[in-house]
Amino acid sequence: MPMPRIVFGTGTIAQVGEMAAQLGSRALLVTGRGSLRQSGWLERIVSGLGEHGMAVTVFEGVEPEPSLGTVERGREMLREAGCDVVVAVGGGSSLDVGKAIGALGNAPGTVVEYHQGRDITEPAIPIIACPTTSGTATEVTANAVLSDHGRGVKASIRGGGVIPKVAIVDPELTLSAPPTTTAYAGMDAFTQALEAYTSTGANVVTDALATEALVHVASAIRTAYYDGSDLAARESMSLGSLLAGMAFASSRLGLVHGLAHPVGAATGQPHGRICGLLLPHVIEFNVAAAQEKYARAARMLGITSEPDDDAAARQLHQWVVELAKELQIGKTLSELDVTEADLEGMIEPTISSSSSQHNPREVTEPDLGHFLRQIL
Ligand SMILES: [Fe+2]
Repeated sequence: MPMPRIVFGTGTIAQVGEMAAQLGSRALLVTGRGSLRQSGWLERIVSGLGEHGMAVTVFEGVEPEPSLGTVERGREMLREAGCDVVVAVGGGSSLDVGKAIGALGNAPGTVVEYHQGRDITEPAIPIIACPTTSGTATEVTANAVLSDHGRGVKASIRGGGVIPKVAIVDPELTLSAPPTTTAYAGMDAFTQALEAYTSTGANVVTDALATEALVHVASAIRTAYYDGSDLAARESMSLGSLLAGMAFASSRLGLVHGLAHPVGAATGQPHGRICGLLLPHVIEFNVAAAQEKYARAARMLGITSEPDDDAAARQLHQWVVELAKELQIGKTLSELDVTEADLEGMIEPTISSSSSQHNPREVTEPDLGHFLRQIL
């Protein structure tokens, strides 16, 4: 899979006009429900694009856990305005919608058809992705997560064309993210880094990216949560999230992410909260299979200097439990409004997901059923 051109650092959003003008002349700017406008960044980004001769059409209003209908509406707007580049600015939802609009810009089928697995064979409209939260790392990955609310299915549209051409990761854009968003996105980033590290698809390159990601996120997540205006903490979170994304784009993830889609489809809860809540339970589930890597992570993060792997791995677990508690993530599936009746329907999609298939401990139907009932 190709990687996007990565532009990282405070102030780099000023390059959006220059980057867009290298890819086209008419931009569809995709964003969320108003926070970009309120923070003043929307106006600055539109004028930055204009300074480089870009015509701009704004598609605002992407909702959390975005629907296929939102992508369909955005794609109509792209076609009506004749846009030849998509600039997506926002959290994971806005970026995923922008990526899907670009990837399907020239595709003849309905968005529903591609969500159900039809291959995208037409060339994509190029995408520039600019995250305003530090968590999903969707700016560097080949999938766009969308919900088919009618069928109760949360799944990805995938393919080479879904990968942005350029990722502009400017920590300044994350300064106005509220604490809850910072907590949920941060737990997603941490989970992605740890699952990339312990994935059966990990290698020395993804380990280098994932461990660096873990250190950056772990060292800054509390500061970013309590003081969102701390630019150094925001820089660390942005970098950690990005590196985690670069790691898992190759290594894939684990059981937390295998469960995250079915739990999200059943409850509508934010992805990052689901990940943060599941992570300590999954560490416990995996501990015998991934003990050495959990122990190394614990020592790397300065949680312990304990030489015994079993003891060090358990200290990592305890550290994550305390972090989730401090960030008010919750502990049980019931707190996410999962009911006993939901559990049965989660087993098949979890086991068949690529994330679960890369979990360090094999995920079998009886083990998963027992695990889910335990954490309900
Ligand atoms: Fe995630």
